[in-house]
Amino acid sequence: REAPRIAAALLDHYDTHARTLAWRISPQQRAAGVRPDPYRVWLSEVMLQQTTVAAVTSYFNAFIGRWPTVEALAAAPAEDVLAAWAGLGYYARARNLIACARAMAADHGGRFPDTEPGLRALPGIGDYTAAAVAAIAFDRPSAVVDANVERVTARLFAIHTPLPAAKSAIRAKVAQMLPAARPGDFAQAMMDLGATICTPRNPSCLLCPVAGWCEARAQGIAESLPVKPPK
Ligand code: ADE
Repeated sequence: REAPRIAAALLDHYDTHARTLAWRISPQQRAAGVRPDPYRVWLSEVMLQQTTVAAVTSYFNAFIGRWPTVEALAAAPAEDVLAAWAGLGYYARARNLIACARAMAADHGGRFPDTEPGLRALPGIGDYTAAAVAAIAFDRPSAVVDANVERVTARLFAIHTPLPAAKSAIRAKVAQMLPAARPGDFAQAMMDLGATICTPRNPSCLLCPVAGWCEARAQGIAESLPVKPPK
């Protein structure tokens, strides 16, 4: 019932507090109707899996400088891309990146599919990346759930089920909150909240735009959620 209001409060906060990140467009651009470049969204989301924003930024800028389009990336020798990836870790991601870029160039004319199922059909694009690109680049109503979003949602709704069993309940709550108008900004607002305010330890509840709805905070247990899987 409160879910739409939570999303509205988050979006208001995002409008004034969104982090300035290399792959994002500015609020002014967005107000002028500019859409994020799907290539930049995809590249950043692949890099951000298992790697922090701070570590990703210089790699992201280097990739965009060297390969400004997905077609340029598709045409690059794999060894060059892997060498540029060195230091980011998890090389399977780089191999998937190359496979995906080449399929996009060969089968899609270098244009990203603009739906979640269309994206998921590409090699190397999993559930998370398909949802993130669909929401952020194309404003599709996809529930984008990473570890930050899991934590924020488990706290908002005081979900005590341990991870990973809690994932389906969390996903359902995210879907309930999802605003029709700005699902991409909503996804990024949730991620920013988790990264900057609703942190794993010592969450800054006094700064949180949705603290008034947070069941974990009301119970004084925010820091103890989400419950980690038993070892
Ligand atoms: N982590 C993963 N994707 C992100 C995004 N688009 N913004 C902020 N943090 C992220």
